[in-house]
Amino acid sequence: MYSNRVTLKVLVISIGLIIGLTSLVYTELLVDELRLREYDQIDFFAKVQAKLASMGAEDNADVTFLLMEVIKGNDLIPVILADENGIPISSKNIKIPKGLNVAEQQDFLMREIEDMKKDYEPIRIDFANGEIQYIYYADSNLVSNLRFAPIIQLSVLGILALTAYLVFSTSRRAEQNQVWAGLAKETAHQLGTPISSLVAWIEYFKTDEDFDQSIIEELQKDVTRLEMITQRFSNIGSEPVLKPVNLEPSVRGALDYMSKRISSKVKLGVHYEIDSPVEVNVSLPLFEWVIENLCRNAVDAMNGVGELNVYIGLTQHKTGVQIDVKDTGKGIPKNKISKVFNPGYTTKKRGWGLGLTLVKRIIEEYHKGRIYILESVPGEGTTFRIVLPIVV
Ligand SMILES: Nc1ncnc2c1ncn2[C@@H]1O[C@H](COP(=O)(O)OP(=O)(O)OP(=O)(O)O)[C@@H](O)[C@H]1O
Ligand SMILES: [Mg+2]
Repeated sequence: MYSNRVTLKVLVISIGLIIGLTSLVYTELLVDELRLREYDQIDFFAKVQAKLASMGAEDNADVTFLLMEVIKGNDLIPVILADENGIPISSKNIKIPKGLNVAEQQDFLMREIEDMKKDYEPIRIDFANGEIQYIYYADSNLVSNLRFAPIIQLSVLGILALTAYLVFSTSRRAEQNQVWAGLAKETAHQLGTPISSLVAWIEYFKTDEDFDQSIIEELQKDVTRLEMITQRFSNIGSEPVLKPVNLEPSVRGALDYMSKRISSKVKLGVHYEIDSPVEVNVSLPLFEWVIENLCRNAVDAMNGVGELNVYIGLTQHKTGVQIDVKDTGKGIPKNKISKVFNPGYTTKKRGWGLGLTLVKRIIEEYHKGRIYILESVPGEGTTFRIVLPIVV
């Protein structure tokens, strides 16, 4: 499921890149084409200008007028006509700031000429009388604006894609949450009936003198455990109630519970490294579930031999409590570290790959905390860290 999703992402990103590149290249071609046309146009103006200058009074006034119209017809391309020494004679389509006197206007045009020179060689006009003039020009607004088109296009496309992604992923997450919560609530609900019936049976056996009372004690323990499991499911299925507590006893409790059920070759230790008592807001049934899950994974990773230590300490800025669950197990390969919290990721024959998903949900969504792998070295061990905010 996950590798499919990655392939899909790569595909979408590649298509996006192809669209982006095509649009860039195509626009660049258009810009080149337009530039060429603009050059032709300026060249044409230059010729008209030269022609106009060579015409005498005896020439046809209509033709003169027509040629003037051609020059005026350029309402796109910024041009400056300058003499042999580069002193501006006239300009067109250049926005000269208001309020400048003649000398300042001239200065302004000279600076424009300097800018124009950087992009295009001026077009030289040779008049019949030997006089020389130059036409300096720059890209029209059309060309400059067109160059931004792909950037604008890509930005719009990007924003659209991001919005779509956010909308889809939040709605998918909301849907997943509903499924989780619904399933959990339903499980808790369904467990309720047989448990109350078991409780009734225990009460009944207690009155039976012939019944071995030590068995009843064991039965009672199992029923208590079942009740706790039900409570966990019911808690995760609804908004759990958080209460300020000191975590040490519940961590010790969870490890005690583990110690009776695992190989005696696993050494368990709880290290409380906080001087003054601090409290964090937790739902105890859910928090114990987290610790149990992490410890069970740790024990599995150690194949029944090793050390499992839990350190409870303060975060660097003393704003949170950090709980480090450290094992001496087989460790997690680097390329798998980002996958362990994914639902369905497991390396165990009989694993569901749900333990850590659940743990992450409980810590992040129900307790507004964080959980991550602090360190994992293949062959040496793994440390998971939980950070929970301190109640102030
Ligand atoms: N302490 C650890 N050391 C090494 N690998 C670990 C450790 N904790 C988790 N893993 C790896 O992460 C995988 C996912 O863990 P997770 O608890 O989510 O599922 P699981 O234990 O395989 O199955 P289950 O749903 O029964 O818990 C494990 O299969 C294991 O490969
Ligand atoms: Mg597990």
